[in-house]
Amino acid sequence: MKAQYLELVEAARRAKRRAFAPYSHFHVGAALLSSNGRIYSGCNVEISTYALTICAERTAIFKAISEGERNFKAIAVVSDDPDFTPPCGACRQVLMDLAGNIDFLMINGKGAVKVLSMKTLLPHAFGKKNLTRTKQHKT
Ligand code: THU
Repeated sequence: MKAQYLELVEAARRAKRRAFAPYSHFHVGAALLSSNGRIYSGCNVEISTYALTICAERTAIFKAISEGERNFKAIAVVSDDPDFTPPCGACRQVLMDLAGNIDFLMINGKGAVKVLSMKTLLPHAFGKKNLTRTKQHKT
């Protein structure tokens, strides 16, 4: 694996230690790599009403966007699950909208890594392009 990706996986592991998951006890860490080499990490943060919970991936990308980052290369996600942790549907849409077709690295509880593109995870995605087309048709 590329050295930059190894560093990303380590950052996701560190972020997992900060997971706030008192309800599910499912701890997740994410680390997002920007095109200029910066890393933004995030963990899942659970809320007592459950639905307001935010996944590690969205914590990381919202942090990055709010710091002014707009271009990304990859995101790594770590959990303790022996199986790989794929992103939920909401995170797939958010990542595709804000980061595009980046690499998504899943690291399972045994340390194995699987890399999938965002296009593979969310084929035929809805996006800004669809809204632009609708606008053109109306005018
Ligand atoms: N979770 C993530 O943070 N990322 C994922 O990719 C899957 C699920 C979190 C949300 C919730 O806090 C817990 O894992 C159980 O769903």
